[in-house]
Amino acid sequence: MAKIAFLGMGVMGFPMAGHLATAGHEVTVYNRTRAKADAWTQKHKGKAATTPAEAAAGQDFVLVCVGNDNDLRSVIYGDQGAFKSMRKDAIFVDHTTASAEIAREFDAEAKKRGFGFIDAPVSGGQSGAENGQLGIMCGGDAATYATAEPVLKTYAKAITLIGPAGAGQLTKMVNQICIAGLVQGLSEAMNFAVKSGLDSEKVLSVITAGAAGSWQMSNRAKTMVQGKFDFGFAVDWMRKDLGICLAEAQRNKARLPVTALVDQFYAQVQARGGGRWDTSSLIHLLAKD
Ligand SMILES: NC(=O)c1ccc[n+]([C@@H]2O[C@H](COP(=O)([O-])OP(=O)(O)OC[C@H]3O[C@@H](n4cnc5c(N)ncnc54)[C@H](OP(=O)(O)O)[C@@H]3O)[C@@H](O)[C@H]2O)c1
Repeated sequence: MAKIAFLGMGVMGFPMAGHLATAGHEVTVYNRTRAKADAWTQKHKGKAATTPAEAAAGQDFVLVCVGNDNDLRSVIYGDQGAFKSMRKDAIFVDHTTASAEIAREFDAEAKKRGFGFIDAPVSGGQSGAENGQLGIMCGGDAATYATAEPVLKTYAKAITLIGPAGAGQLTKMVNQICIAGLVQGLSEAMNFAVKSGLDSEKVLSVITAGAAGSWQMSNRAKTMVQGKFDFGFAVDWMRKDLGICLAEAQRNKARLPVTALVDQFYAQVQARGGGRWDTSSLIHLLAKD
């Protein structure tokens, strides 16, 4: 069993750290808002620390799941940051959906300081985190990954080392690019079905099993037609992720015309007050003026 610090007790980090404690690891958690760390220690066996540096000191692994690049910098760098106290030969794993640039920066910094780094963004959402069924896309050295994999498998349905540092974040971008175009297509299709006077449930019962089928269709099409968006992966997070994809595309010269357009549609959903709605809320723009 390993000694592990987990920084960021949000929707994702809280249950992920919980799986580690249940598996018997010695877990110390840190959260900026202390109440969430205290709620975690009330529910699970483990300790809460006051700063990232205090949590990270002497651990075998330091795992992080915060919001974005800037949040990462504030828990990793500085006098109270995790890098200040991590011991040599420890491994730092970043589960945040962040840029490939910051992954490469952390990898270089970690190498200088003598510890390992893996970028490991996740897919599967809140339910995947709670059920320990996440997809984990990893970037880093093979040897570091081999040491970290058994720990990360605690809450994974699928986990793969894709390539060097940054490859995990790039894979998450591929995932989000797929989702953006797919959800817009599904929104247009379901809105078309409704406007045609078709029974959308009957339509779905036939087409879900065919070539148009997808996770989004199986899990979201019905609620999209019902105008229910009060769950799932928030539009605000999706805009953060698409911003990362579009910035990366400036660098690698990949053309993302549909992704850029869907990003603007999500901006319109935000302007309608839907920042916390599920990403399937794109249909709101088609169904309601
Ligand atoms: N939710 C999903 O369905 C989902 C799915 C896949 C990937 N992700 C990704 O996973 C990451 C976390 O998502 P989440 O849903 O767990 O978010 P969340 O519930 O909003 O939690 C964010 C966590 O980051 C901490 N944090 C934010 N800014 C910070 C800062 N400047 N310094 C220190 N701590 C800071 C927050 O602390 P406080 O409690 O103090 O605010 C909180 O613990 C994001 O990158 C997201 O894109 C989320």
